[in-house]
Amino acid sequence: MMSGKEKRVLDPLRFFTKLKRSIRKRVLFRKFGEAWNAKSAFQNRRYDSYEAYLEHQKAKLETHDFANYDTEFRTALRERLDALDIVWRGRTVLCLAARIGTEVKAFLDLGCFAIGIDLNPGKENRYVVQGDFHDLQFAPKSVDVVYTNSLDHAFDINRIAKEVLKVLKPDGLLIVEAVHGRDQGVKPGFFESFFWSNIDELIRVFENAGFKATHRTPLTHPWPGEAICFHPIQDRR
Ligand SMILES: C[S@@+](CC[C@H](N)C(=O)[O-])C[C@H]1O[C@@H](n2cnc3c(N)ncnc32)[C@H](O)[C@@H]1O
Repeated sequence: MMSGKEKRVLDPLRFFTKLKRSIRKRVLFRKFGEAWNAKSAFQNRRYDSYEAYLEHQKAKLETHDFANYDTEFRTALRERLDALDIVWRGRTVLCLAARIGTEVKAFLDLGCFAIGIDLNPGKENRYVVQGDFHDLQFAPKSVDVVYTNSLDHAFDINRIAKEVLKVLKPDGLLIVEAVHGRDQGVKPGFFESFFWSNIDELIRVFENAGFKATHRTPLTHPWPGEAICFHPIQDRR
């Protein structure tokens, strides 16, 4: 156990890392502000261009430390996936906007062949490759499962739904984990670019794009929301 005296010792590296992150956050806030367009049940952050959206979204990795999140979310996700009535071993899984790969590790733990994509996977990431969920680089009908908990980082949600429908096998599965919406008192944070009034509205987007929601489960970690399983509707492809 640390004594009170030891606690006061300043770790210069930690101090400068925190300072650098805090300055970077201020710079980003000045640049992107908090202007949103509200369109019916949805809100989109206002960007001058797609390039500005990309720059903002890529910046989150350098402003946070994800070490605890990585351990805790990996366990929580593995446990809830394991509770689903699905044989995971050997399934191919694509995780969209997977950052350092926490969700990828949860699927690997369950015996899947899993990979993530992210705008900014950081350096030498073994689990996540560079990619944009509006323009997936994978072959049509090639993946068993697509997972994402990052739809609140969308620029064009309809485009993402189309891309997921493209890469999923006809009997594939899409798992969306989504935080509650504004109607439940949740507000988007500084890095979010898209938000919903409630999860029903988000589900409607995927149903209009050619999916059927087959299973909904409440979740509490890493935030209060729902996990939703969708299946492609065959005659809509
Ligand atoms: C809230 S983080 C979630 C990360 C990860 N799913 C997790 O739970 O650890 C959102 C991630 O979305 C990524 N992102 C934002 N826009 C994206 C896009 N168009 N394509 C791919 N990744 C994107 C960001 O780089 C960031 O890593």
